Amino acid sequence: MSSSAHYLLLLAACLLVAAVGATDHIVGANRGWNPGMNYTLWSNNQTFYVGDLISFRYQKMQHNVFEVNQTGYDNCTTEGAVGNWSSGKDFIPLDKAQRYYFICGNGGCYNGMKVSVVVHPLPSPPSAAVAANKSAAPVVAPTAVKVAVAVVSSIWFGSGWI
Ligand SMILES: *[C@@H]1O[C@H](CO)[C@@H](O)[C@H](O)[C@H]1NC(C)=O
Ligand SMILES: *[C@@H]1O[C@H](CO)[C@@H](O)[C@H](O)[C@H]1NC(C)=O
Ligand SMILES: *[C@@H]1O[C@H](CO)[C@@H](O)[C@H](O)[C@H]1NC(C)=O
Ligand SMILES: *[C@@H]1O[C@H](CO)[C@@H](O)[C@H](O)[C@H]1NC(C)=O
Ligand SMILES: *[C@@H]1O[C@H](CO)[C@@H](O)[C@H](O)[C@H]1NC(C)=O
Ligand SMILES: *[C@@H]1O[C@H](CO)[C@@H](O)[C@H](O)[C@H]1NC(C)=O
Repeated sequence: MSSSAHYLLLLAACLLVAAVGATDHIVGANRGWNPGMNYTLWSNNQTFYVGDLISFRYQKMQHNVFEVNQTGYDNCTTEGAVGNWSSGKDFIPLDKAQRYYFICGNGGCYNGMKVSVVVHPLPSPPSAAVAANKSAAPVVAPTAVKVAVAVVSSIWFGSGWI
């Protein structure tokens, strides 16, 4: 294998590690944090793991974000809030395996600006593609290398044909 192929292998391995790393879950995707949405539909379509981020994008000053408990979520109240954010682009780490509740604290909650997410413990092995078998963890590394080799091969032979 040439040195450039080795370099590509290293690059592919790094990309693979990045691919299984933390995810930033953008609330509402390209529609952001705004009234009139059903964020239950959004959160049901995502899987959250410890170490992921949830991020809220909205017009600064118009809306905000409060982390509340279930009572606050059900009733749109911010008493006893755990935290609040208002930058318009708020990244909030989900560092515990628990259910989180977020609402807009200035009225938007009554118009759908509430979201609840369940954060799961990190799967073991970390690759979602590998069946969830805790004792199968050592299998991950060879699998990763195989995938990386496949990626490199396609890049390498692909460029060879051009
Ligand atoms: C949002 O969608 C969920 C899941 O389909 C549904 O149970 C819920 O009633 C909806 N909420 C609103 C306010 O429409
Ligand atoms: C669910 O997620 C998939 C893939 O990210 C996306 O294509 C789809 O539009 C989403 N559905 C909803 C209802 O958000
Ligand atoms: C929250 O709202 C429910 C009705 O939606 C009510 O029964 C309950 O007492 C409220 N809780 C608080 C703490 O206000
Ligand atoms: C939520 O927090 C409020 C204010 O601290 C408290 O009165 C309420 O009992 C809490 N609700 C739950 C479900 O923990
Ligand atoms: C928002 O959070 C700050 C601390 O970060 C706290 O001092 C402030 O009281 C909170 N505001 C509300 C309305 O809860
Ligand atoms: C998990 O892996 C172990 C050994 O690697 C195997 O003995 C066991 O049957 C597997 N369990 C499942 C549910 O696949």
